[in-house]
Amino acid sequence: MAIRFTKISYIYDADMPYFHNALKSVNLEIAEGRITALIGETGSGKSTLVQHLNALLVPHLGRIEILDHRIEAGKRNKGLKQLRRDVGLVFQFPEYQLFEATVLDDAAFGPMRFGYSKSEAKKRAADALISLGITKELFDRNPMELSGGQKRRVAIAGILASDPKIIVLDEPAAGLDPAGTKLLEELFVSLNRERGKTIIVVSHDNDMVYSCCDDTVLMANGSVVYHGDTLALFNDRTLIDENHLLVPRLVELKNRLQEKGFKVPSSVRTIDDLAREIAMECGS
Ligand SMILES: Nc1ncnc2c1ncn2[C@@H]1O[C@H](COP(=O)(O)OP(=O)(O)OP(=O)(O)O)[C@@H](O)[C@H]1O
Ligand SMILES: [Mg+2]
Repeated sequence: MAIRFTKISYIYDADMPYFHNALKSVNLEIAEGRITALIGETGSGKSTLVQHLNALLVPHLGRIEILDHRIEAGKRNKGLKQLRRDVGLVFQFPEYQLFEATVLDDAAFGPMRFGYSKSEAKKRAADALISLGITKELFDRNPMELSGGQKRRVAIAGILASDPKIIVLDEPAAGLDPAGTKLLEELFVSLNRERGKTIIVVSHDNDMVYSCCDDTVLMANGSVVYHGDTLALFNDRTLIDENHLLVPRLVELKNRLQEKGFKVPSSVRTIDDLAREIAMECGS
């Protein structure tokens, strides 16, 4: 098991009269080597939960096991540097993450911190930046002067450059154009399928979740209300209605085709899958 949360509670402004209980005794196990989506309405606790994965937030109650690290409420937790090397977290807001004077230095910061030589760190940073479509002409620019989508890509590259085992992305597609979103999806699918990375992605985009994520964790009001197979969730009318979920467009289309008498299995998850099924139905 890559990650195990046992009875995790987190309270913002715990000592204040206006405290807010953002995580309420959460139990959660996330398997290694899978792509897991974390979804839920705004304010449901997704960002709070993912910030526990590299101990940016420490729980008020409960215990977290991540690979061979352990974080416990009320204890002095050790080995956080190694934990942060193993778990790379891309923040919801890239501005929180970018601070060096140039794009290349920013992306090289992580690998340098984790012990790579300056030249190796820059090479890793350059490779990660290029894989995200940030070309060399931008390497000497100040990251704060880039567009929102470019900043986001630099922030993601900075995490990938350190080659963490678990990659956590908090709404990575926010601010990206459709081409940037597609590139990002292909990148994290290939990091998972080809390099075995465990990926956790917070998203409001159920189309993306449906097409790429093996499992889905659904949060509501500081609690986990569903954790399981993504296809099973979005093909279950009761779960969809109870949780007011937006049905992925592909599921909508598949349902309409089924109503019209086409035999389309619920396992289709991409447009290509669907086109193949329809072609088979039509005998071509
Ligand atoms: N720094 C903070 N201080 C006080 N309350 C906070 C703080 N950050 C978040 N909260 C509260 O905790 C709850 C959970 O917030 P969180 O940011 O985890 O939600 P989220 O699911 O990530 O939402 P979104 O989809 O809008 O990003 C919300 O009610 C929020 O107002
Ligand atoms: Mg959030």
